[in-house]
Amino acid sequence: MARPFSILMLCLGNICRSPTAEGVLRARLQAAGLDGRVHVDSAGTGDSHLGQAPDPRAIACAAGHGVDISMLRARRLALEDFDAFDLILCADRTILHEARIRKPRTSHAQVELLLDWAGQGKKDVPDPYYGTVRDFEHAFRLIDAAAQGIVERVRQGRF
Ligand code: 4NP
Repeated sequence: MARPFSILMLCLGNICRSPTAEGVLRARLQAAGLDGRVHVDSAGTGDSHLGQAPDPRAIACAAGHGVDISMLRARRLALEDFDAFDLILCADRTILHEARIRKPRTSHAQVELLLDWAGQGKKDVPDPYYGTVRDFEHAFRLIDAAAQGIVERVRQGRF
């Protein structure tokens, strides 16, 4: 069997936005009966929270939407990720810029903005780390809209 299409969610710390995106996309794919079709993971461009669980506010926010991300652990984007993943989806334009700089010439990975899949014209998932519970909720809704867009594409067999 061909290997499943693979998506890496990318942010700065891998404790707020990208683990949320990993958990939400996995949950939405599972709910749609499509979970075997896509491999999902997440990472951060930075290394300040390596090995840590997601921020407690991100865990609580996701849990409030029925998504458990408590078991995820932060890791840093590795050079090998550019070979291992078909699509790398970045939380904001700064992350996108950084990822494109790091992408080896030999990599065929597509490096794009996560919210380009949400169809709402927004570019960045604002970093909620220094924000409030409301900021986490806002980030979640943006991420969830993108996840639904990705699920729709998978449903249409366009990956
Ligand atoms: P994330 O949020 O990139 O969505 O995981 C952040 C987490 C940690 C920091 C910044 C953003 N930090 O500066 O430590």
